[in-house]
Amino acid sequence: MYIDKAADYIGQVQTIEGWVYNSRSSGKVAFVLVRDGSGIMQCVVAKSDVDESTFEAVRHLTQESSISITGAIHAEERAPGGHEMHVQKIEVHQAAVDYPITPKEHGVDFLMSNRHLWLRSKRQWAIMRIRATIVKSIRDYLDDNGFLLMDAPILSANACEGSSTLFSTDYFGVPAYLSQSGQLYNEATAMAFGRVYCFGPAFRAEKSKTRRHLTEFWMVEPEMAYCNWSQNCDVQEAFVTYIVQQVLEKRKEELAIIERDPSPLEKIATPFPRISYDEAVKLLQKAGSPIQWGDDFGGDEETLISNQFERPVFVHSYPKSFKAFYMKTNPANPQTVLCADLLAPEGYGEIIGGGQREDDYKLLLERVHAEGLAEADYQWYLDLRKYGSVPHSGFGLGVERTVAWICKLPHVRETAPFPRLLEKIYP
Ligand code: 4AD
Ligand code: MG
Repeated sequence: MYIDKAADYIGQVQTIEGWVYNSRSSGKVAFVLVRDGSGIMQCVVAKSDVDESTFEAVRHLTQESSISITGAIHAEERAPGGHEMHVQKIEVHQAAVDYPITPKEHGVDFLMSNRHLWLRSKRQWAIMRIRATIVKSIRDYLDDNGFLLMDAPILSANACEGSSTLFSTDYFGVPAYLSQSGQLYNEATAMAFGRVYCFGPAFRAEKSKTRRHLTEFWMVEPEMAYCNWSQNCDVQEAFVTYIVQQVLEKRKEELAIIERDPSPLEKIATPFPRISYDEAVKLLQKAGSPIQWGDDFGGDEETLISNQFERPVFVHSYPKSFKAFYMKTNPANPQTVLCADLLAPEGYGEIIGGGQREDDYKLLLERVHAEGLAEADYQWYLDLRKYGSVPHSGFGLGVERTVAWICKLPHVRETAPFPRLLEKIYP
């Protein structure tokens, strides 16, 4: 039996195969908390119910020893999960000695170095299950709303998000890069299939040691033909609202384990406010920030802006100077581009970057040159503007930042099973 299915087995004798999470005993009764991956069950061993050697073995069970434990399943309101087992038999597969992660507090560096074991703890269990629900909601939403999954390559000859954060590798004698984003390929598949998305890992050699940056992260990137930047925002707000609602519905228990107050998430509903970069700068200056028009926002500015709203907020029309080469120039103000970032509330900041793409061949070519990119590398991409170019838009949502916000975590390091951070590739 799996622990999460206990309700189906009340009154029956069942076996759980798992690990000892915790145990305590008095002279007459022992309580063993057993985890099997699907949940945690309290197993009660009464001295009078088992033979002497079994009771002694139970009294000496150590944390994370692997066991099979058999007994009758009972409903018990006071037990975690609402059920408990009255134990008849126990088999120890391997007795763990000196498991390093004890119930006491440990430092983050120690826990990160033991990530392969840390994942067994209740808090990590809850976060990873919320992550899985976020990923499933992403796929369900897009699959059910007319988007076709189009995997983009990981090995690429092109930079999408600037050459300073490229991880390079040798591709049989020519340089290749790990993908920073599947967007450029999405633009090709959108012209073939209309509405598409890619979903996979992205790599950035980020030298920044912040609570928001990983060197490897997962990103979902929808792309739509015949779509302007504002219609692109309409899709994003419906998409993000759906993801949050799914977590609230399906992961109540996990949110409670990590002590995430659900009420701010319950306020997430469409429409999301939309402010321009100009308005955002004014808002920041009013709040005492020294920011000037033309400066990029860092984490602090995003936190300040997002704190002013209960819902995620779009900031649109940023200056061209610090945005990617593919963004469409704003015809109303050519200093700016038709992009929008989505900043999550409670201080989390950017979870989505997106916008309308430059669809004019000449203007795009100018941007390729201005960025110092090799025209030959982008020939195929420029082709898309020669053969039936249309207004098109898309966005990229970072899974780890979304998990951090929804779980209200202080750092992205707890959002992935094995996060890759600056100076951290082990385990
Ligand atoms: O804003 P970014 O760089 O946008 C793109 O890559 C576009 N090509 C997406 C598109 O339009 N198809 O990244 C998008 C999102 C960010 O908002 C953030 O959530 C996440 O990807 N992200 C990171 N997450 C963790 N660590 C990093 N180093 C990240 N860089 C970006
Ligand atoms: Mg961005």
